Amino acid sequence: MKYFPLLLLVLLGCRETPRVDYEAQKSASFPTAAIAGPHPLATQTGLEILRRGGNAIDAAVAMQLTMAVVFPRAGNIGGGGFLVYRPAQGEPVTLDYREIAPAAAGRDMYLDSLGDVTDGLSTRGHLAVGVPGTVAGIVAMHERFGSLPWAELVQPAIDFARDGYRLSESEIGRLKRYHADFAEFNESTPFSDSSMVAGTQVQQPDLAATLTRIQAEGHAGFYEGETADLIVAEMESGGGLITREDLRNYEAKWKAPITKDYRDYRLISMPPSSSGGIALAQMVEMVEPYPLDDYGFQSVRSVQVIAEAMRRAYADRAEYLGDADFYPVPVDSLLSDDYLKARMSDFRWDSAGTSDNIAAGQVAMKENFETTHISIVDSLGNAVSITTTLNGNFGSKVMVDGGGFFLNNEMDDFSAKPGVPNMFGLVGKEANAIQPGKRMLSSMTPTIVEKDGNLFMVLGAPGGSTIITAVLQTFLNVAEYGMTLPEAVDAPRFHHQWLPDEILYEKDALGGGVLDSLQELGYTFREVNSMAVIKAVQVLPDGSLQAAADPRNPDDDVEGY
Ligand code: DON
Repeated sequence: MKYFPLLLLVLLGCRETPRVDYEAQKSASFPTAAIAGPHPLATQTGLEILRRGGNAIDAAVAMQLTMAVVFPRAGNIGGGGFLVYRPAQGEPVTLDYREIAPAAAGRDMYLDSLGDVTDGLSTRGHLAVGVPGTVAGIVAMHERFGSLPWAELVQPAIDFARDGYRLSESEIGRLKRYHADFAEFNESTPFSDSSMVAGTQVQQPDLAATLTRIQAEGHAGFYEGETADLIVAEMESGGGLITREDLRNYEAKWKAPITKDYRDYRLISMPPSSSGGIALAQMVEMVEPYPLDDYGFQSVRSVQVIAEAMRRAYADRAEYLGDADFYPVPVDSLLSDDYLKARMSDFRWDSAGTSDNIAAGQVAMKENFETTHISIVDSLGNAVSITTTLNGNFGSKVMVDGGGFFLNNEMDDFSAKPGVPNMFGLVGKEANAIQPGKRMLSSMTPTIVEKDGNLFMVLGAPGGSTIITAVLQTFLNVAEYGMTLPEAVDAPRFHHQWLPDEILYEKDALGGGVLDSLQELGYTFREVNSMAVIKAVQVLPDGSLQAAADPRNPDDDVEGY
């Protein structure tokens, strides 16, 4: 008996290390309020805020800060994002807290002496970083629409940073892939220890201190004082451009949403500096005359019509879209019914269209990208759709020394040179050329859908250029093909972005000979592992809320009550 405690210890030691303190659930329906997000610790934080009487904006603020701690590859305070908000009462609005080019940036900053784009300069390291917008964004949304005290919403993130959270198996695998990158740009990070295993508790004391400054001082806790000093020191140490003045000048901007009617539905989405709202609106308008439900889900006809609408929308994106404060984006023309009808007039059933390859783009898809989206409906019916990002996994891979947070590599979303594809294979021209203070064009498409004037769906996704087409297909899967929301989110997808002239498809998409038939018509295909990762909430006819997270990301999770 006297050996019992020893035996117990040995047995406990042999037991598998507890991995993580959470489990993700992919779909559920809730009577009152629902959240879909990228990580259970973030969605549970949001749920706790809602239960405490916070509204959807309060939950969104707490979740974004929590994601910056427990989902550091994409959750952020060193990046930017977009909010689409539909209050239960009043008009929908959007908030643009996208990063901007520093004052010292210039249109040719990534070109060498021969005028060619220098590989990697806009994607890795200090020169890739745009002036972050996230903290300005969450402070602004809280000031205008929040209800709980600010400090209360920041606290969960501080707790996770100070006390730590357990790393999952897949996070460990991912971190290992990035250790060399972290070492290239940082002396050390909390994630650089190669002895970490699944279940390791990782603490981030520098980040806890930064968050505490943000808790105490709000906007100024990031854009002024010690945090600003740390960012500027980091920039100076690595040849980056961001100055104290760049930080002081940063402002999030409230904007009217892009809206488009489609049958009984109204889509409400993000205006420039996102391309998402305009491209989504163009695509639904272009497909609306065709009876997609009669054609059937991913039938030859459905795929053809949708792919041709995608091709045309992305061609317009490349030519006309950029930050509307710097370039006269012809929004009304691009969205006019006549223009969009004419746009499909050269569509033929008997052969594939062409993208007139002026510059062969190449979809890189080399890196496993990550961004993050949250969809929330609270008990009052307020709806929040937010997509926020560092761009690549861990952004530029530069962590602010002493600040404890990764900085974005969003500068790559500008067009470094006309016609030269960025890391998503997207091309652009003058509209999206680099200028000081300008926002780089995004594909993030946080969206809210009404049906007959009532809240119907909240959705969005990470996935770079494939976000817009994933939002389109998820919506059409419900509205045209009669799927439930979880079915619509799970369904395999395809994607065309004008250049390169090919249709990307997920393994199980386009089965039953559809792919062969389309190849015969002249379409080119490329299989990819997976594309965008949707998180969505739908209001069901009885008023309950169906939430769906995407099986494409194991940590995607829904919560509610
Ligand atoms: O704003 C954009 O369009 C990109 N920076 C988004 C990046 C992204 O979604 C990465 N992926 N999953």
